[in-house]
Amino acid sequence: MADTLWWQHGIVYHVYPRSFQDSNGDGVGDLEGIRRRLDYLVELGVDAVWISPFYPSPMADFGYDVADFCGVDPLFGTLDDFDRLLAAAHRRGLKLILDFVPNHSSDRHPWFEESRASRDNPRRDWYIWRDPAPGGGPPNNWLANFGGSAWTLDEPTGQYYYHAFLPQQPDLNWRNPQVRAAMCDVLRFWLDRGVDGFRVDVIWHLMKDPQFRDNPPNPGWHPGLPGIDRLLQIHSADHPDVHDVVAQLRGVIEEYPRDRVLIGEIYLPVERLVAYYGEELEGAHLPFNFQLIFAAWNAAEIARIVIDYEAELPAGGWPNWVLSNHDQKRIATRVGVAGARVAAMLLLTLRGTPTMYYGSEIGLKDVPIPPELVQDPREKNEPGLGLGRDPARTPMPWDGSANAGFTTGRPWLPLNRDWRRRNVAALAADPRSILTLYRRLIALRRRRAALQVGDYVHAHVEGDLYAYERRRGGERLFVGLNFGHEEQTLTLPDDAPRGRLCLSTHLDREGEAIERSARLRPAEGVVVELARGGAQ
Ligand code: NOJ
Repeated sequence: MADTLWWQHGIVYHVYPRSFQDSNGDGVGDLEGIRRRLDYLVELGVDAVWISPFYPSPMADFGYDVADFCGVDPLFGTLDDFDRLLAAAHRRGLKLILDFVPNHSSDRHPWFEESRASRDNPRRDWYIWRDPAPGGGPPNNWLANFGGSAWTLDEPTGQYYYHAFLPQQPDLNWRNPQVRAAMCDVLRFWLDRGVDGFRVDVIWHLMKDPQFRDNPPNPGWHPGLPGIDRLLQIHSADHPDVHDVVAQLRGVIEEYPRDRVLIGEIYLPVERLVAYYGEELEGAHLPFNFQLIFAAWNAAEIARIVIDYEAELPAGGWPNWVLSNHDQKRIATRVGVAGARVAAMLLLTLRGTPTMYYGSEIGLKDVPIPPELVQDPREKNEPGLGLGRDPARTPMPWDGSANAGFTTGRPWLPLNRDWRRRNVAALAADPRSILTLYRRLIALRRRRAALQVGDYVHAHVEGDLYAYERRRGGERLFVGLNFGHEEQTLTLPDDAPRGRLCLSTHLDREGEAIERSARLRPAEGVVVELARGGAQ
C-alpha cells in the first residue's frame, strides 16, 4: 500500500508476555519465548506485535507497576534478549510496539522512593501529594480502579499520595515539566533501540483536575458493580489539559522516522474518544476503539456502532477496532466459539487497524480460576464480582505435548482444560478450524486493498443480518454477517447483483457464484467479491 503506513493497513497482534511462551521453565513466558514464536506470527500473517510490559517490576499489577522504565525484568530476560527479539522481528518484517506506562510508576521506583522521603525532596512534586482533608482523611472522594480510596496516607510525611490504581502504583505528576521531560526520554530510549511505536497505558488519565474537586456520584451504580463506578470519573481523568500531553508524546514520536505509531488506551464514549486524535491530528495515531468489547452482540447494535464511529472520526483520523485484551473477557467467552468466527470476519473486514489478542485466533475462552490460584489484584480486592482478569490471561496452548508446549515447568496460570484439542498445532492441521479461518481472513485482507484501506459503505441491517461493502476504485467486496441462530438471505446490491464468494466463516463454499442473493447459515459470515461492470 504505497499511500498508507503499516499501522494503517496492517494488523496488530497483542502478546501478554507472561503467557505466550516460556523458554526457561519457570512457568512464566519471556522475551526469548516470544522470539521463538515469531515464525508463527509471520505465518498467521500479522504485521506488528504489541507486548504488554516486561520492565523491572515488583509485579503488584503484573508489570503495570514499573520500577525502571528502561530495563527488562529478569523474569522476562535481559536487554540483550530484547535487542535480539527486536532484530529477529525486524528481520521477518514484523514491527514491535511496546507498552508505555506513563500515568504511574511502581512505589518501588527510585523516583517515588525519593519523592516520599521528605516533603522537601526535589522529587516530591514528581508525584501527587496532598494534605489530609480539613477534618482528616483523604483529600477528596476519588476512588481507585482496583477498589478503595485512590489516596494512601504516608504517615512519616503526613500527606496522602494519589494512585488511580493500586497503592503500589502512585500516579506521576504530569503537570511537572521535569516528569514530562524524563518520560519523553524514556520514549527516546526505546525509539533509539529501534522500536516501532507504543501503546500508551491509560493515556486519558494523565491530567487530573488541578483543583482536585470531588467526583459526583453515579446514579446508575448498584451493588455488584465495581466500587470505582460509584462515582463518575469526571474530575480525575479526561481533563482537557491531557491533549497537550498527548501532543507532546506525539512530538517525540515525530522526532523519529515517519512510520512510528502512537496508540492510546482510552475507555471513553466515542465522542470524547475521538478528541484524542487531536484537533489537527497532533494527538494519538490510534486512540484505541473498544466499542466492540462492550457491544450488545447483535446486527443492529454493531451496525450502529460502526456507522456512528465512522461519522465521529475527524477528517484524516484513522479508525481501529479491538475485540478483546488482557483486561477484558475473551471474545469466544462473550459470543461463543461460532460467534467468535463471525467476530473474526467483522474485525478483519471493517475499515481500520485491527488489534487481535493472543489466543483469539484459536477460539480460546476465559479459563475459570479457582480462588486459591487467583493472581490478579483486581479479583483479590473485590472478589466475586467477575472483575478478575486472570481468566483471560492463561497460557497459550501450542501443541499436545506436556503443558501444551508453553513451559517445561508449572504454568503460572492453569491452561484451558481442552488444551489437548484446542491448541495451535491441532487447529493448524484442521482445514475448517477457527485458526485456519483467521489465516484465510488475514491472507484475504492482505491481498485486497479494498479490505485494507478501502471505504466503508453501509448496505443494510435486516434482522440478524448485517451487510456492508468495502470499496476501493473498482474493487468491491461485500460482507454479510449473520449474527443469529437462523438462516438469512443476503441480497447483493442492486448495482452489482453478481459476485463470487471469496470466504465463508464455515470455510466450505469458496468460489461459489452468487446471483442476487445467498443463503447464510446460522452464525455464518461471507465475503463476496462483486463482479465489476454492475447490473448489465
Ligand atoms: C491498563 C492496563 O491495561 C491494565 O492491565 C492495568 O492494570 C492498568 N492500566 C494500570 O496500569
